[in-house]
Formats: sequence, structure tokens, C-alpha cells
Amino acid sequence: MRLFVALEIPPVVRESLAEFLVALRAIASQPRWVQTENLHVTLKFIGEVQAEKLGHIRAALSAVHSDRLVTLDFRGVGFFPSEKRPRVFWAGIEASANLTRLASDIDRALEKLGVPPEKRPFSPHLTLARFEPPELPEKLRAAIQENAQREFGSVAAREFHLIESKLKPGGAEYTTLETFSFVVAEA
Ligand code: 2AM
Repeated sequence: MRLFVALEIPPVVRESLAEFLVALRAIASQPRWVQTENLHVTLKFIGEVQAEKLGHIRAALSAVHSDRLVTLDFRGVGFFPSEKRPRVFWAGIEASANLTRLASDIDRALEKLGVPPEKRPFSPHLTLARFEPPELPEKLRAAIQENAQREFGSVAAREFHLIESKLKPGGAEYTTLETFSFVVAEA
């Protein structure tokens, strides 16, 4: 099974992004626009694992905690690796410092189970579209430029989710397998 760990976004942020994406999709249909119900903040991509490992993965994730909730502000859009060679179009996230710790704690907990650790620094984002080939139509570039600092809302998150991804011809289908409350209750 193919797994990843992510934060969900609240309906108000999802709707705000959906409105933006409808407008952009009308300008250019070439990029693979993410279905808005699939939008999430990936904390860790686990990849293919044998189903027998699932119990260990759940146990490892249930031991990851933070002493407070994570705040996320969704603001601004940009490209990985660059506007000149766009592969991923994303919405930016300004988060409380414990988000990076949470992602690296998850990474280390899963590394003990044989999941390859991340090599790149954690860069929180919401993937909005993927480009193949990495070419940005001029009209789309202009529309995105106008919205470079657009605000999509905020959330305070207290749980993350283990999600299964099934790759289907019509796009990925995600199923939440388990939800983990990561905030340690104060004594
Ligand atoms: P993303 O967060 O940039 O969208 C499920 O595939 C999620 O895991 C996607 O949202 C994806 O990126 C993230 N992910 C990270 N590394 C990946 C990889 N090597 N292959 C597929 N997805 C990956």
C-alpha cells in the first residue's frame, strides 16, 4: 500500500483555494490541477509499504507529540523548483515552529521502521497543480503573478492523518486510515 502522513485543511480554506483554482483552470487546462477535495499538507511521504507493516507504522505515529497545536497561515503562491521550470504550483504556508519539529519527529520515527528519511529540508506547502512538461503559459503566469500574495485563511491543527493513496487513471484517491491527536494534554 502507498501511504503518507498529512494535515487536513478546514472547509473555509478549501473553498477559498477552490475559488482561486476554478479561475486559473479556466485560463489553462494543461497543468494537472489538484482536485480540491484532495488538498492536504503533506508532513511525510511514506511510499509503498507491505500491509504487514501498517501496525508498526500506526504505533510509531501514535508516539509523536507536540506540546501545543500547530498554527498555519495559508498565504501566497509559487513554484517548485522555479517559475522558469515549474513542476509544482503551490500555496505557501507560514506555520508555528513546532510544525517542522513534528515533521522531523515523524520522519525519524518512521526511519526506525525502514522508511527512507527525507533528504530535503521540510518545506510546508499545498500542491495546487503539477506541470508536465514544466512550461507555464503566459496568460496563466500573469494571472498567478497578480495573486502572488493572495490569502487563503488560517487553521490551528491538533491532529494529523495517516492516508492511503490509490493511484487511479482519473487521479489519486485518498483514504484516511487513522487520525492521530498530537497535542499532549496539559497536566
Ligand atoms: P505534495 O505534498 O507536494 O503534494 C501523496 O502522494 C502526497 O505525498 C502528495 O501530496 C505529495 O506531494 C507527497 N509526496 C512527497 N514526496 C513524494 C513522492 N516521492 N512521490 C509522490 N508523492 C510524494
